[in-house]
Amino acid sequence: MEKTSRISGFHKMGLEERLKIVQSFSELKEGDLKTLMKEGALNFETANRMIENVIGTIQLPIGIAMNFLINGREYLIPMAIEEPSVVAAASNAARLARSGGGFYVTNTGPVMIAQIQLVNIPNAHATRMALFERKEEILTLANAQDPMLVSVGGGAKDIEIRVLSTPLGEMVITHLIVDTRDAMGANAVNTMAEALAPFIEDWTGGRVYLRILSNLADKRLVRARTKVTKEALGGEEVVDGILYAHTFAEADPYRAATHNKGIMNGIIAVVIATGNDTRAIEAGAHTYAARYGHYGPLSTWEKDAEGHLVGTLEIPMAVGLVGGATKINPVSQVAIRILGVKSAVELGEIVGAAGLAQNLAALRVLATEGVQRGHMSLHAKNIAVMAGATGALIDEVAKRLVEEKKVRVDRAKEILEGFKKK
Ligand code: MEV
Repeated sequence: MEKTSRISGFHKMGLEERLKIVQSFSELKEGDLKTLMKEGALNFETANRMIENVIGTIQLPIGIAMNFLINGREYLIPMAIEEPSVVAAASNAARLARSGGGFYVTNTGPVMIAQIQLVNIPNAHATRMALFERKEEILTLANAQDPMLVSVGGGAKDIEIRVLSTPLGEMVITHLIVDTRDAMGANAVNTMAEALAPFIEDWTGGRVYLRILSNLADKRLVRARTKVTKEALGGEEVVDGILYAHTFAEADPYRAATHNKGIMNGIIAVVIATGNDTRAIEAGAHTYAARYGHYGPLSTWEKDAEGHLVGTLEIPMAVGLVGGATKINPVSQVAIRILGVKSAVELGEIVGAAGLAQNLAALRVLATEGVQRGHMSLHAKNIAVMAGATGALIDEVAKRLVEEKKVRVDRAKEILEGFKKK
């Protein structure tokens, strides 16, 4: 039978049944299911090697987003997030997107930028040109830092040099353009930048201060596209509502911030599940959203000639498969195997599709019934637990809270007392 991520009723299954499905879908290893089921799979010893002064670990739920068809391939997407509704919304949007063939995603390669800041130079423009004359030398010196990366086809490939006029005088900023292959690449490019600094000082007579990657990873973009038929969406009015939502975000940074937050709900959940650097992705995304001089939405939504909805997302995507927490955290390794990705760029494409799906889900619900109904039914369960409900009473109390539209702990306690008396 053809493999499909279109699995109905997953949410109604118990943990073991869910795990069986995930296992039959992906190439999980012996022990992976145990890792997933273990509460606290990240042990102290490993955690203590990851950061300093470790006193514990914090856990997040991992849910599976279903229904994703990306570049013609089926994916189950693990998402780690504290917010209710996100996983269900992504699955729902991915199901709708199948009406137009799912998601089509491309990438610009795993290319990072390292910056070397040179100051104290009287003739910045001539210095810039002189550095260009040493391009081959610069690339050779950079690549000598990482023969492993070079051996797998990566390494420093090019340079760009900019002159910045600043209150502290002109600065010559060298960008080292590095293909980091399956690594996020921070370590690789920072090492190269640091190694080059003394040479640049020597050649130019200036002083180098910063030598560090740029999180505006705009040479490492993913570009996603999807189409949803108006029928699947519930009519042309819903399409129009989504166009109004997108246009609102174009016109207003207050709305654009929330629009992009919805995209990041999907993106960051996969980034966390796979052990990648969330801050790098956030920094890159929001700076890219302001690249035209004003902050705008990262996605676009349009109507095609037949009135169907078409959406796009373009976003920097510095995620890796090797190095960092991805390799160290056992749960991240399982997440990677569930995805079945073989390269960092493939992972990036999936993350991009998840972001676009999440945005679609949010805009659809905002353009129709609003978010609160869905949010509240899940939120109500947490409130019921906070009020002391256990077992079957959690659902009973939550149901009443939603019916009464009073999702508050004080009311939950009253309802719970009532049930207990009965
Ligand atoms: C909530 O986490 C995300 C939304 O606010 C996104 C949006 O408004 O587009 C629903």
